[in-house]
Amino acid sequence: MAIRKIRTQGDRVLEKVCKPVTEMNPRTAELIDDMIETMYQADGVGLAAPQVGILKRLFVIDVSPEGNEPIAFLNPEILATDGVQSGYEGCLSVPGKSGVVTRPNYVKCRYQDRNMQWQEIEGEGLLARAILHENDHLDGHLYVEKVEGRLYDNKELEEMAEAEEQ
Ligand code: NI
Repeated sequence: MAIRKIRTQGDRVLEKVCKPVTEMNPRTAELIDDMIETMYQADGVGLAAPQVGILKRLFVIDVSPEGNEPIAFLNPEILATDGVQSGYEGCLSVPGKSGVVTRPNYVKCRYQDRNMQWQEIEGEGLLARAILHENDHLDGHLYVEKVEGRLYDNKELEEMAEAEEQ
């Protein structure tokens, strides 16, 4: 396994529409492992293939408290969404920044696992947010397009939170 370089905003690879994963092979299996390792190393909860320069419909997510339950989504399809949530969101391709994004609070998603078997998952809250955020990457979209108001420096948000506590 290896840590891959994370592409950042402005890199045109992040603006492209990704192609389906047609088969599992050692190269794609290695890519998935590398993406999981890269996500953990960067302290993220999700990472999409275009963020490491690969234009495939594939992302990994881990929203578990311990950070030991990674899920690889291949060729994901959003089947249903419901409700509304609004909250801060960030992205490893936009380092050190956050902004408020409103998204559905519930999502039902179909995807292929690393054995190319179709699976279905339902998620609420952070999991729904993560699936929708990562899925947007596969169509060349970054969350900054959806931010309400402005983008904040994470440092600025920490200071605001500290000020509120006093
Ligand atoms: Ni992102």
